[in-house]
Amino acid sequence: MKGERILLTGGAGFIGLRLARRLAEAGAKLTLVDDLSRGRRDEEAEAFFARPDVTFVQGDLCDPATLERAGGPFDTIVHLAAVIGIQVSEREPVRVLRTNAISTIRVVDRWLAQEGGRLVFASTSEVYGALLGAVPLAVPSPESVPVGVRDTGISRYSYAASKIFGETLVRQAAQAGGRTALVVRPHNVYGPRMGWNHVIPQMSLRALRGEDPFRVFGADETRAFCHIDDFTRAVELLLERDETGLFHVGTDRETRIGDLARMLLEAAGHRVWTVDVPSQQGSPPRRCPDLGKLRAATGYEPQVTLEAGLAETFAWYKRHAEAHPEDLQMEATP
Ligand SMILES: NC(=O)c1ccc[n+]([C@@H]2O[C@H](COP(=O)([O-])OP(=O)(O)OC[C@H]3O[C@@H](n4cnc5c(N)ncnc54)[C@H](O)[C@@H]3O)[C@@H](O)[C@H]2O)c1
Repeated sequence: MKGERILLTGGAGFIGLRLARRLAEAGAKLTLVDDLSRGRRDEEAEAFFARPDVTFVQGDLCDPATLERAGGPFDTIVHLAAVIGIQVSEREPVRVLRTNAISTIRVVDRWLAQEGGRLVFASTSEVYGALLGAVPLAVPSPESVPVGVRDTGISRYSYAASKIFGETLVRQAAQAGGRTALVVRPHNVYGPRMGWNHVIPQMSLRALRGEDPFRVFGADETRAFCHIDDFTRAVELLLERDETGLFHVGTDRETRIGDLARMLLEAAGHRVWTVDVPSQQGSPPRRCPDLGKLRAATGYEPQVTLEAGLAETFAWYKRHAEAHPEDLQMEATP
């Protein structure tokens, strides 16, 4: 990693900033691109962007001029930028599809225009998640599970569809051009600074508001929550070993959403009754990655327990809400 020139898109976002920091600590020189549509130039980002081995370029990746400004060539291009989140997909499906498809086309074109270099693309477990519960699929799910959406007319699947396109484009471009590409499918990564549109920040928001009784949406569904430090370590291991192809990345410790709520309320010191509420339509009953391929390639093992990670994450959201009380007024969703 020492001296490696890395272009990382989505560098002001949740995963982007933490992964960039890990790669910089391993000796890489980073160019980060973000349009700040969701990522923030908060204190943590500003401190990192000020490092001499880091360059930050603000711009929309859909605009070809943005990647020209980023310079290059790069030894590695890590494409994380995307419009994400179920609520955004439901409200603005065309924006999700257009931004994620066009930005990925720009990044792939930029990659193919230079000599060599590898491309890393962040896909998502959602590429097969919509099929869980609809057709028989193995859970824990290996990389070989089929991908797809149940119905292209349902807005929430716009995100999954955009990522199916993205990973197909990246893998096909790699094969056609004799290049190497790595596609990772993150599974429920969580931690401080992850925005508000995920289950853990939303539960934290409702706990901080003192919701009583506390609603638990889809209490019997299970997910496998992977701490950001475990996720970024897995990606670093894949990069160090020059792995290519497709990898599921996460943890395989499955947790009932009801148990997640209990642990979070415990961390919050919020002692209230809970009430079970049906989950949103289309939400898969179980999701957990099969990590066999990742383990065999890298020896990776998740290390951060959910109890410790939740306590750290809730504490961050509490501090954040104290500094930004206006965030507590936002609409809470499941
Ligand atoms: N967090 C998870 O659990 C998870 C799970 C599955 C997949 N992923 C994937 O990992 C990647 C990073 O996710 P995250 O959780 O850090 O999300 P994030 O929203 O925090 O980061 C994405 C960043 O991309 C930027 N961006 C969006 N559109 C852009 C554009 N047109 N030009 C430039 N920048 C743009 C946003 O401002 C944001 O900072 C995404 O591709 C996401 O699909 C994340």
